[in-house]
Parts: sequence; structure tokens; C-alpha cells
Amino acid sequence: MRARHKKWVTPFLEEHPDIALTKVIPTDGFFQSEKLYLEIGIGKGDFILNMAAKRPGNYLGLERDNNVTGIAVKKLLEEGTPNVKVREGDFDDIAEEMKGLKFDIIFLNFSDPWPKKRHGKRRLTYAPRLEKIASFLKEDGEIRIKTDNLGLYEFTLEQAEILKLHKVFDTTDYQFDDSDDAMSEYERNFREKGQRIYRLVYKK
Ligand SMILES: C[S@@+](CC[C@H](N)C(=O)[O-])C[C@H]1O[C@@H](n2cnc3c(N)ncnc32)[C@H](O)[C@@H]1O
Repeated sequence: MRARHKKWVTPFLEEHPDIALTKVIPTDGFFQSEKLYLEIGIGKGDFILNMAAKRPGNYLGLERDNNVTGIAVKKLLEEGTPNVKVREGDFDDIAEEMKGLKFDIIFLNFSDPWPKKRHGKRRLTYAPRLEKIASFLKEDGEIRIKTDNLGLYEFTLEQAEILKLHKVFDTTDYQFDDSDDAMSEYERNFREKGQRIYRLVYKK
């Protein structure tokens, strides 16, 4: 999927380098937080914003779509959320910058399913990419995955099996746990339609 560009977004992001990072600098004090979380594909930012208000620690959100990155940063500014920074770009490109960072939890919420079989390598949970993602976990860290897409759920089970990741949670009918989770815009929409949500949690 190609990133969409709206005229206002790039100048707006440039005006807020404190939130919209142009580069991840692992030695920056923000990333020295005892608890550190990552969401890949934040969309319009509802999940990261709500989670950051619930669970103390610092959060990095990656989003490759320029337009939705702008919307997420706008929301973060409006809410005055101090513990979230966003980096526009694709995980594959930003991974190098993040070297040295280790996260307590990495969230993948409603990642693009890429339903055509020949597009499997584009999925965030394609084994080589999932392995890279897992390399950013702390020793006891977790990857938490939610999706509405059965194909992506089954694909993720297979890919994680290849990597011998340790599965600590698996459900094909996730009942939202408000005490330790937050709702993204996609999740809210799917739940309103009565769509089943799949959830997986892995450790290394
Ligand atoms: C289906 S949307 C879900 C957005 C949000 N997580 C939610 O639950 O509402 C998936 C998002 O992930 C982003 N995305 C997909 N692959 C990505 C990647 N490799 N790096 C960064 N962002 C990515 C897309 O641009 C899109 O905004």
C-alpha cells in the first residue's frame, strides 16, 4: 500500500519534532525509561494514546502513512500526552535506527492483512520480519497481536512456530480486557459490527 500525502502533514510534523521524531535516537533520555513500549502501525493513534494514559512508561509509535501519522500527532498534541513519540516510516527502514532499544511490550494491532497469498512477505508477522521485531524485546518482553483477520491469525501462528516463539496467549474470540488493553479505531469499528477478534501473545 502506498503512503498517502496531504499537504498540511509534512510541515505540521516538522513543527513538532518533540513528538514527531525525524530519527529515533536510542541514547535520548526518552528511550532510557524503565518501561518502554512500541506499537508498529499506530494508524490514527487511538490505541497508543489510550494505552499511554493507562500504563506508565514511554511509548514509541511507528506509522508509515504520512496522513494518518499527522492525525495521530494532532491527537497527541490535543491530549497533551507527554509519554508518546511517533516516527513516520516503515518498520523495515526504521529498524536500523532502533538498534540498541529494547521494549517491554511490542503491540501489533489490526496490521494490514495482505490477504493475497503472494503478498505474504509484506505481512508484519512474516517470519523474517517477526524475528526482527522480536529482536527488540527485553528478555521477558511480549509481542501482543490483535487482528480481525482469520488468515493473518493463522499465518502468524505458522510463522511464530517457525521461529519457535513461546506462545503465552491465544484466543479466537478475544473479550476486551479494559484493565490491561486499549481500543484502537479499527477494533472499535470491528466490535460494533460484531466481528470476532483474534489475539495472540508471544515471548521469545
Ligand atoms: C489496518 S491499519 C490499523 C491501525 C491501528 N493499529 C488500529 O488498530 O486502528 C494498519 C496500519 O499499519 C500501518 N503499517 C503497516 N505496515 C507498516 C510498517 N511496516 N511500518 C509502519 N507502519 C505500518 C499502516 O499504514 C496502517 O496505518
